[in-house]
Amino acid sequence: MVDSIPVITVDGPGGVGKGTVSRVVAEKLGWHLLDSGALYRLVGLSALKRGVELDDEAAVAGLAMDLDAEFAGNSGDSTVIMLDHVDVSDEIRTENVGSAASRVAALPAVRQALLERQRRFCRPPGLVADGRDMGTVVFPDAQLKVFLQASREERASRRYKQLKDKGISVNLHALLGEIEERDARDSSRQVAPMRPAEGAVIIDTTRMGINDVVDNILRAWKERAE
Ligand code: DC
Repeated sequence: MVDSIPVITVDGPGGVGKGTVSRVVAEKLGWHLLDSGALYRLVGLSALKRGVELDDEAAVAGLAMDLDAEFAGNSGDSTVIMLDHVDVSDEIRTENVGSAASRVAALPAVRQALLERQRRFCRPPGLVADGRDMGTVVFPDAQLKVFLQASREERASRRYKQLKDKGISVNLHALLGEIEERDARDSSRQVAPMRPAEGAVIIDTTRMGINDVVDNILRAWKERAE
């Protein structure tokens, strides 16, 4: 990472609004965007497609190392994501792939394999990096670190709406259970557990709209940059 390139990290659990907030902040600043969760989802999907066991650390790390992934510009308000030259933008958002992502993300060799790839997203004029360990591990020198949180019920209901809008059928109760399971796994793992970075600005988004969260982050950034 080049120190002079500004980085804002946005970490937090699933369904907290990180993805949308990070995209809007990046657009407003004219910066690049790293959706690190998508990389873990691609590794999970790649393992599922190839029939690789999700706890076979060496094999999954091999997939992560050789991941043929492309973030190919925007379609509407989301990025087109390609795996092995196939558009998997919708497929990686299913709970099944999210759960696979969370399992492979607990493997140290997989995290190591994705580290440099994530850091290469840091290019001028700046980067907004969204994930679980952006502020703690991947970009520890980021000028602004944000940690978003919201109640589990609110996150489950947001995820429900998001998936339903995409035509993916889900059960709210099952979704809540999956979110609880994923939170527990993501925050208790040995390597790079999900937690606020030191000095992070913590924002509870339970009762906030996207624009308010974006404004809070831009205000915090302006204060740091002045
Ligand atoms: O943000 P998301 O739901 O797309 O992330 C999917 C999974 O990937 C999540 O359960 C944990 C993992 N992940 C991670 O361990 N570290 C990151 N920086 C981003 C995601």
